[in-house]
Amino acid sequence: MRQKLESIRNDALKEISVASDLSQVNDIRVKFLGKKGELTNVLRGMGALSADERPVIGQLANEVRESIEREIEQKMSVLREAEKLAQLSRETIDVTLPGRPFQIGKRHPLTVVLDEIKEIFLGLGFEIAETPEVEVDYYNFEALNFPADHPARDMQDSFYISPGVLLRTHTSGTQPRVMEKRAPYIPLKVIGPGRVYRRDDDATHSPMFHQIEGFIIDKNISFSDLKGTLLVVVRQMFGEDRQIRLRPSFFPFTEPSAEVDVSCIMCNGAGCRVCSNTGWLEILGAGMIHPNVLKMSGYDPEEVTGFAFGLGVERVAMLKYGIDDLRLLFDNDKRFLAQF
Ligand code: PHE
Repeated sequence: MRQKLESIRNDALKEISVASDLSQVNDIRVKFLGKKGELTNVLRGMGALSADERPVIGQLANEVRESIEREIEQKMSVLREAEKLAQLSRETIDVTLPGRPFQIGKRHPLTVVLDEIKEIFLGLGFEIAETPEVEVDYYNFEALNFPADHPARDMQDSFYISPGVLLRTHTSGTQPRVMEKRAPYIPLKVIGPGRVYRRDDDATHSPMFHQIEGFIIDKNISFSDLKGTLLVVVRQMFGEDRQIRLRPSFFPFTEPSAEVDVSCIMCNGAGCRVCSNTGWLEILGAGMIHPNVLKMSGYDPEEVTGFAFGLGVERVAMLKYGIDDLRLLFDNDKRFLAQF
């Protein structure tokens, strides 16, 4: 057996030394070291050896394997190096070729729309506040007058990080977060843009989307201030001939509450596919801030009133640009993004 092992070593090393390319070396590895290779074959016969011989032969077999492996490694790196040199001598570089132009990126359509909306509100004297996306129950629900177990929480069936901590389901937490820091300061005029998360996923809903919260607190703020402000904003956003329509709705943190529609941008109110023949498109929720919400965050509802609204940014982008599938905004397909 000792002889057999020695002759395997000699044969293998000889073959390796004359191999002239990588695939040959690989074949040699299989022939000697592979599962059905010669060395493996010899080792199968070890059982027939005496207990004294076994460790001696075992050690020799290991040495043989190691020396073959070492030789293969070395040969391979020599061959690789040779291949690289050969390739370099084949290739020539034309240093006079002009460089390739850089593709300059541009803002994402959502960023364009967000910036535009921020600009409009800055022009109206609002300040911008950014609040956390990972939010605690208190600001997402409790301080907005959603008691624990209130069924209105179901509409926002959400992503919890741990008990009492979740990905915010709307930007309305901006209201209590800013109010409790600034109370009793008036007039408070704030917008809070950012990402929000809900368990929704189809052509018009994504589990992550953007909202802009907005609210005002001052003496004598009325529902007509809300309506007037929204009309100005909608006209700056979509054009001076837009109309808005308010429909009664419910939110725990506003009373009264409304859903706000804008007259359809495609058909100008006549009715078409985009507006499902109604002539109107829903773009935001709004209302007068509930006295409980004011009170919990340090304002006296006997002294001041306020309005609030939450605008869907994807919605606005889709309407402005006639995008019919919201998911296009998140696919990162350059053919789509290059159009804005
Ligand atoms: N937060 C509400 C939503 O996401 C929208 C809203 C904001 C409604 C402010 C009223 C006032 O549906």
